[in-house]
Amino acid sequence: MAGLFISFEGIDGAGKSTHIEGLAQALRAQGRTVTLTREPGGTPLAEKLRTLVLNDPMDAMTEALLVFAARRDHLQQLIEPALARGDVVLCDRFTDATYAYQGSGRGFDAQVLRVLEAWVQAMPASTALRQPDLTVWFDLDPAIAARRLTGARAPDKFEAQPADFFRRVAQGYAQRMAQDPQRFARIDAAQSREAVWQDALQAVKNRGWLT
Ligand code: TYD
Repeated sequence: MAGLFISFEGIDGAGKSTHIEGLAQALRAQGRTVTLTREPGGTPLAEKLRTLVLNDPMDAMTEALLVFAARRDHLQQLIEPALARGDVVLCDRFTDATYAYQGSGRGFDAQVLRVLEAWVQAMPASTALRQPDLTVWFDLDPAIAARRLTGARAPDKFEAQPADFFRRVAQGYAQRMAQDPQRFARIDAAQSREAVWQDALQAVKNRGWLT
């Protein structure tokens, strides 16, 4: 079977994590081998970079360089080998998050992000870049996300950002979807958890990857 690469996106508090786990179980139940991973992170080196990015103050360019460095290691060590074996790779965030958080949220130059993306996601003997086959975007009003996050565990650097930041991040995701609508499935994450789950499942079924 051909490998599949599915990413999951949304602002902090949009509630994607439990659904990623659920989809992993559903795919395994149909005989697929699933590699569950996240960004920044997914390898020992990338997880170290994650700790820095999520906790240490730094300028937006440093942040962008570190998340792309982590992504490079993650692609080489984990994602590409898994896809080559025919696994389904479920990745909690990928490059759309960099455009949304570092680009729209922090105002870093999207042209530079495009250059980094082209370098990091280049594939051998191909002009195409490695991109997810499907991106499930949990779209949620930042005001609702903020209410959901209140009282949850201690916020990391991004979760502690003001509402305005998350409005920009949400706009960044909308822009990414507008640029590549075929790749995206947008889910209304303001619905009940069960309705969100049904929509997430349907997004994968629509591609013929689950029955
Ligand atoms: P998140 O995926 O929400 O994990 P958890 O559920 O453990 O909090 O946290 C990752 C954070 O990193 C999130 O706030 C978004 C941020 N991030 C970026 O700023 N740029 C990136 O390129 C990626 C992948 C994540």
